[in-house]
Amino acid sequence: MRKFLIAGNWKMFHTPKEAAEYGRKLAHKNPDQYDIDVLLCPPALSLPALRETLRHTKVAVGGQNIHQEPKGAFTGEMSAEMYKDAGASYVLVGHSERRQYFGETDELVRSKTIRALEAGLTPLVCIGETLDERKNNQTSNVILTQLNGAFKHFSKSDMSKIVIAYEPVWAIGTGKTATPEQAQELHLLIRRTIELEFDAALANDMRILYGGSVKVENARDLLSRPDIDGALIGGASLKVDDFHKIIEIAHQL
Ligand code: PGA
Repeated sequence: MRKFLIAGNWKMFHTPKEAAEYGRKLAHKNPDQYDIDVLLCPPALSLPALRETLRHTKVAVGGQNIHQEPKGAFTGEMSAEMYKDAGASYVLVGHSERRQYFGETDELVRSKTIRALEAGLTPLVCIGETLDERKNNQTSNVILTQLNGAFKHFSKSDMSKIVIAYEPVWAIGTGKTATPEQAQELHLLIRRTIELEFDAALANDMRILYGGSVKVENARDLLSRPDIDGALIGGASLKVDDFHKIIEIAHQL
């Protein structure tokens, strides 16, 4: 049985002080009472403060991006090892904003995924099509290309440590959500592809999250689909009450 993972991606929001306040509020709601996994990916500078306030809970913290090298003269960058040392257990890789604004390619996503695994972080690898690609019926092709690019020559053992997030780019931060049917269809395609490339057991155990304007109002519908194993939530994760409500919904399902 796959356990739900409800993950928040704060993007460039919440200072260390705000993160600590959020963490205290979330800890107060006793998130460990829910039988699901919970993750928050704050900005790097806010991660230690958030982690500190959540240290008595099972809520995990993660990075939003890492450099593909373990260390070096890369001014302004942060390594997987640094995140690990700061208490992170996950890291987002290949988020569409990284692909769009920072030119991240499938090849770079692959290198960063390998780096994360080597550092003992769980990579949460994001894939998804743009609006133009969907309109031109390219969705499946794009997803297959991104999957093949990111996980080329990966071993089954490496694959078993990865979480995938399907995030249609047109649904991110736009208020437009994929319908539960659209999302389910793509999740199934992803799972079938993993099955073909690796094996059925691995595909069956793989957690595939949906992301793109997930909020309290649509979470139940999306999360009740058989191949949707959680959510990667941007905007709605910024408010602790909303994030907590989505956690409750996942726990009830
Ligand atoms: P959103 O962001 O929930 O604000 O659409 C999702 C994401 O970027 O992961």
